[in-house]
Amino acid sequence: MEKETFYITTAIDYVNGLPHIGHAYEKIATDVIARHFKQRGKDVFFLTGSDEHGIKIQKTAAENGIQPKEHCDNTSNEFKKAWKKADIDYDRYIRTTDADHEKVVQWAFEELLKKGDIYKSSYTGLYCAGCECFLSPRELDENGCCPIHQKKPEEVKEENYFFKLSKYKDAIAEHIKKNPNFILPQSRANEILNQLKDIEDISVSRSKESVSWSIDVPSDSEQGIYVWIDALTNYITGVGVLDDKEKFNKYWPCDVHVIGKDILKFHSIYWIAFLMALGIELPKSIFAHGWITIDETKMSKSLGNVISIDTLMQTFELQDADAIRYFLMTTASFGKDGNYSDEEFKSKVNADLANNLGNLLNRTLSMLVKYFDGKISNRTMDADLLKLCNETVSDVERKFDYYEVTEAIEKVITLVDAANKYVNDKAPWSLAKTDLNECEKVLYSVLEVMKYASVLLYPVIPNIAQKIYTQLGFEGEIKGIKLADLKTLTIKEGQIATKDTISPVFLRLDSEIAKDKKK
Ligand code: MSP
Repeated sequence: MEKETFYITTAIDYVNGLPHIGHAYEKIATDVIARHFKQRGKDVFFLTGSDEHGIKIQKTAAENGIQPKEHCDNTSNEFKKAWKKADIDYDRYIRTTDADHEKVVQWAFEELLKKGDIYKSSYTGLYCAGCECFLSPRELDENGCCPIHQKKPEEVKEENYFFKLSKYKDAIAEHIKKNPNFILPQSRANEILNQLKDIEDISVSRSKESVSWSIDVPSDSEQGIYVWIDALTNYITGVGVLDDKEKFNKYWPCDVHVIGKDILKFHSIYWIAFLMALGIELPKSIFAHGWITIDETKMSKSLGNVISIDTLMQTFELQDADAIRYFLMTTASFGKDGNYSDEEFKSKVNADLANNLGNLLNRTLSMLVKYFDGKISNRTMDADLLKLCNETVSDVERKFDYYEVTEAIEKVITLVDAANKYVNDKAPWSLAKTDLNECEKVLYSVLEVMKYASVLLYPVIPNIAQKIYTQLGFEGEIKGIKLADLKTLTIKEGQIATKDTISPVFLRLDSEIAKDKKK
């Protein structure tokens, strides 16, 4: 039987600045979801990349005294390096300056011109370069500024091409109402339904004179295509809409576009209208996540509080990004705003990864070595714990069905808590003196729980999960293990550990080292 496919995308990042943990948050969440669905046997395609055209990038390159393309090459490389450090296992990193993408954008634009959904008209409007869009006076704050970028938009008078967005607003509203999982979390759907009421046609080109760094309108070389139309189209280029029909038919429609709440309007209104106009099937869902603040403050260059994966890894002397991934995925329910602070980071990962998970494995394996020479001879598992393991697998799957990453992780932590409690209640160190059979059952049962926990947590903490898996006596990579394998994948009989094979899977973060380094 052919594998079912699962196509997942992130927003593509503007390359006017360097990658920070806000960008990383989204890529990590998407990576976690992608890895989970691979564990469910799906044929996953994971697309991420960078958004490289537009006035914002044109200006940044000019400020740096280099050509826009060179600027984009340099910065997109920094993003790729950051995603490597964060263990983001994507299938394609798309750049909007890629030749296949430029071709698709031009094709789509001309298609809509031919259909009459794009027309030319003159326009005067207020353009926010930060948002890369026109804002209506209603959207401005009391000082006449963009509420997100706190800057006055620039008045632009031009003859541009327009897209008949208003023509699609009823169809979009109906689609949202009929498909409760189209916008996730569901609580965000109303916000979009309200915005739809005020939707007018949008300008989809700028004169080349004002924005030279853009994809040309093929039939009118004095006009460049609007950066959001360019950017959104990446989702169909990424799976070969023009160049690889077979791939496109295999993966499209996209299962989920993972994006930040600030750009939900572009995805659930502009993108959807654009696809409707092109006659392309709509994505199944759009998940809008919240924003990450630092010490409860918005990250900004001027405040100097922008943190990257790299700085955190260096500050805390981390070998890999697992702890950061874990923290970001659990700091707030995925979909809500979250916060990073050094203190919260240390206490969360020390408690969950070092103590709860790591110590449980460590002390169980140590007892196995002490009382049984590191050998398993009787594989009897506690029935209640086994039941809980199986329930946890189903619960985690159900949570991931709605991309509730944080709640899925919580289910696994509850399982680990139960195993910790079980060890404390059963006291295998006392059983070792009175009932060796029961003692072995307790230790084996806990190790089985660790097997479930490592596989279920692998999407979030792939490196730690691998270490646990190896210390449980398994050979090879945890990466290929499917959730369906869990029942048959048993810890082997015989020697699984010695004093030398046991080592902490995660070392507590030393607050003093971190403090000194930050200074
Ligand atoms: N280029 C557009 C997206 C086009 S998608 C077709 C863009 N780029 S961005 O660089 O500004 O943001 C990229 C993604 O990162 C967005 O989904 C945005 O919400 C997310 N984040 C940027 N800063 C963030 C935080 N501080 N916290 C969480 N996510 C944040 O928008």
